[in-house]
Amino acid sequence: MTTDITYLGKIIRVDSGTIEVEVSNDIPSAAPIINGRLYKIGQIGTFIKIPVGNITIYGIVSSVSNTPSKADETLIKYNFGSRFLSVQLVGEKIGDDEFEKGIGTYPTINDEVHLVIEKDLFDIYGKRDEGSIEIGKHSSSENLSVYANLHKLVLRHCAILGSTGSGKSNTTVSILKAILNDYVGSRVILVDPHGEYASAFPDAKVFRINDVANPLFIPFWLMNFDELAYFLVGAKPNDDQRTEYRRFREFITDFKRKNNVLISGTVNKDFITADSPIPFNIKELWWEMNWWLNASFSTAVKDDQTKATAQQTDVGDFENLVGATFTPYAMGNVAPFKSKHTEFFPYEKKILSRIKDSRFDFLFNPGDFKGVAGTRDLNNLLNDWIGSASKLAILDLSGVPFEVLDITVGLITRFVYDSMFWGRSESYTGKQRPLLLAYEEAHTYLNKNDSSNYSKQAVEQVFKEGRKFGLGALVISQRPSEISETILAQVGTYIALRLTNSGDQSIVKSSAPDNLNSLIDLLPALRTGEAVVVGEAIKIPSRVRIKLNNPRPASDDPKLVEAWMHAYPEDAENYKTVVTRIRQQKF
Ligand SMILES: Nc1ncnc2c1ncn2[C@@H]1O[C@H](COP(=O)(O)OP(=O)(O)OP(=O)(O)O)[C@@H](O)[C@H]1O
Ligand SMILES: [Mg+2]
Repeated sequence: MTTDITYLGKIIRVDSGTIEVEVSNDIPSAAPIINGRLYKIGQIGTFIKIPVGNITIYGIVSSVSNTPSKADETLIKYNFGSRFLSVQLVGEKIGDDEFEKGIGTYPTINDEVHLVIEKDLFDIYGKRDEGSIEIGKHSSSENLSVYANLHKLVLRHCAILGSTGSGKSNTTVSILKAILNDYVGSRVILVDPHGEYASAFPDAKVFRINDVANPLFIPFWLMNFDELAYFLVGAKPNDDQRTEYRRFREFITDFKRKNNVLISGTVNKDFITADSPIPFNIKELWWEMNWWLNASFSTAVKDDQTKATAQQTDVGDFENLVGATFTPYAMGNVAPFKSKHTEFFPYEKKILSRIKDSRFDFLFNPGDFKGVAGTRDLNNLLNDWIGSASKLAILDLSGVPFEVLDITVGLITRFVYDSMFWGRSESYTGKQRPLLLAYEEAHTYLNKNDSSNYSKQAVEQVFKEGRKFGLGALVISQRPSEISETILAQVGTYIALRLTNSGDQSIVKSSAPDNLNSLIDLLPALRTGEAVVVGEAIKIPSRVRIKLNNPRPASDDPKLVEAWMHAYPEDAENYKTVVTRIRQQKF
């Protein structure tokens, strides 16, 4: 009714999903007070409703103007002084049914438009559906919880985006806490490159390099051949023309076949390739290369230079990186002869320096993960990460050297993905018990401009195929414009916090599933901890306030002013520990 206190005006234009409303000159107030609450007419991002028979259509105000958007002269003359609202239609409610996204019945010219009051918002948001989590409170009302459909949030993937300091980490904590508190069988792996989340989740299992209780190990033998060759000797797959590269592949295949008998469960030897995740000793690999390079033989014929004809004097000790020794080869054409197996000359020293670099111990010295009888194997690793009662495993990668961060995230992702794929019919994993993989600071290792990018390939696979095997993903990033487009295109739900960079805003605008530019335009103006949530998991695109969690992630800003308020005495002893840590790469 035009006399209702909620009456706003009439529709003057309908254009697919957008309508234009002329605000009536006769409305009693530009800021009516309804049931004790003040409503402001024409606030961008607020809702309006259009009752059409027993259907109520809902829309979001996207722009306000004092001239109509497609003004012709008569309109300007006629409507001078009026206000016009552009409204994007978002959904409808039929009778007492629940609110539904999408428009089945379009309004027409002259239909009445009304303000949406708190009671209407409760109709839309108020009821908590089964299988949902609370993500925060609606910005326009602190009593109004906003829920997300958990199934869609996880399995259709989700992104939390926002400039630095906008509240992404806190939002991540809110969402993960809501999941872990409400669902006893949930499980989440959080990839945490800066080690900031352990403090926010006292009950989580935190894996960290050099940690006493839960050391982080990612056995190097999880790497496929291309990764291993790239990491150990800097070789790329297009090096396969080179003898040493092909020999290297054969070598690793042989090592893996030889060790096959030692692992838990037997694998048919014929199926083992250089890519199979079967343990072997990297030091033994080096020793073997070193052996062929330095050996002397009783024959000069390359094909006859074998272990049997070698003139070995001492076997050395591969565990301590001591090579075998041989009778020195003679000068001239007499025995012993110099080795003709020199293919590995370019590789041997590089491998040695990798093995000796203690920063890579979590890969090359993976503790008990030897896969040999009596030690730990990959099933134990999976049990640690995703089979534990604590539901959340935080993989703290803060001690991982930057140059291997990419490969490390790639290995983690591929291993978890493979476990879900090959475990898809098991009762305790795969489709029967889905898993959420969360990637913090995703732009650092999922960068779209890096061509040789192992983690990107693995994570893209999760985004494209993971859903079918119960694997969902969450990316968290301050630079959405740097993230792989394949990943963003598969994100079903966007939680966008304040975003100031225009390139980043336009990425969110173009990839967000609902065509709601008006809400996305709010991004630079959002408060800390306030987000625009759009997409599959949420009934209606919303502006949401996320609560500040306690305990917090260790990402709080340093207290700069307090720190700079007092003087610091000079001390010659300072910085010694710091430098030692830089040297050891260890806290
Ligand atoms: N919902 C909130 N309400 C109030 N303050 C908040 C909220 N969320 C975050 N903050 C404050 O904002 C600061 C930054 O938050 P947070 O670490 O979550 O941001 P971020 O987006 O993850 O930043 P970065 O990109 O640096 O990781 C924190 O000091 C926190 O106290
Ligand atoms: Mg953060």
